[in-house]
Amino acid sequence: MNDTAVEPFPTAASPNSNAYPEPLTVTNVDTAIEADPTAAPDADDGYATDTSSSRVSTSISSSVRDYTFENNRRYHKFREGAYNFPNDEPEQDREDMKHAMVVNLCNGRLHFAPLENPQKILDIGTGTGIWAIDMGDEFPGAGVLGIDLSPIQPIWIPPNVSFMIDDAEANWTHKPGSFDYIHIRHMTSSIKDWPKLMSQAYTTLKPGGWIELQELRFIIMCDDGTLTEDDPVSGFIKNVRKGLAAVGVDLLAMEKNSTNLQAAGFVNVNEKIFKVPLGTWPRDPKMKTIGLYNQYIIEDGLQGIAMGPFTRGLQWAPEAVELYLMGVRKGLRNSRVHSYYPFHAVIGQKPLS
Ligand SMILES: C[S@@+](CC[C@H](N)C(=O)[O-])C[C@H]1O[C@@H](n2cnc3c(N)ncnc32)[C@H](O)[C@@H]1O
Repeated sequence: MNDTAVEPFPTAASPNSNAYPEPLTVTNVDTAIEADPTAAPDADDGYATDTSSSRVSTSISSSVRDYTFENNRRYHKFREGAYNFPNDEPEQDREDMKHAMVVNLCNGRLHFAPLENPQKILDIGTGTGIWAIDMGDEFPGAGVLGIDLSPIQPIWIPPNVSFMIDDAEANWTHKPGSFDYIHIRHMTSSIKDWPKLMSQAYTTLKPGGWIELQELRFIIMCDDGTLTEDDPVSGFIKNVRKGLAAVGVDLLAMEKNSTNLQAAGFVNVNEKIFKVPLGTWPRDPKMKTIGLYNQYIIEDGLQGIAMGPFTRGLQWAPEAVELYLMGVRKGLRNSRVHSYYPFHAVIGQKPLS
């Protein structure tokens, strides 16, 4: 779909170049995604998730490997309660599907920062480590370190990739000025103190090094009036935001990523925004696939997404949550609603001096 194609960020002459030609840019959001008039109104295309993965870690102490269970879901034990979503296999499959969706949306790109021969790469909140592993393959000469609260990364990984259990909100112990690139993706539901995180990233980067944040903006949008005030999916997302706010997490904090980066001292800050359709309603085959992924990412993960924010934040009983989710599931399959939410990719560079 040419009119909504993702334009690559301009490539700087070198990673140390301060010449970054564009100011903040917005990609593909001015163009409405064209709807497929033949889409089934209650689409329910089959999709089987991969449940074959089995992940353990061997390089960490047993206390960090422990898990906690709540409402039949498994959560991290290290810094218990800090992150409000499960870390069990269904959730890991969902995160891997999210990776596939976002990489597809970005035309196969793992990053937009103009990297040239990076030596050290840090992935904050690496999850299943899927991005870090792909990045290790793209840059075999670089060391890629992924950190996370949960030891859910695979043991069979490229030799240049490693994982560490660590809390990104604690004081970092990485050597100042030691990394070429820091990557943060889908962490808006995790981090409470973004200015502190960005300031620590700034210190840890080499002069000329890049930071990149890739985040979904959880506001359901629509360009053709098919989204109504009482849309159950919109209502659900609003409740997730409220529940997370009650436990100190601002799900829309990512709206300030560009300004926070500038406040932390980063230059050449550049933002791209893409539309991520929800459901199989777009006419364009690529957008239809992305919409299908997105629909299942939410539908498969509905209970996992809801339980933490609704029971911990909004104090709902688990049974009430399950009942409520029945209506949300129905809303997710309604292809008459041409909804989407934005995805923001923001990059910034630490000045050379
Ligand atoms: C939504 S997942 C994103 C995973 C990965 N960034 C990706 O895009 O595939 C969020 C991850 O951040 C981790 N996390 C949450 N809070 C964290 C913290 N304070 N320090 C380190 N990791 C954290 C969670 O354990 C979870 O694996």
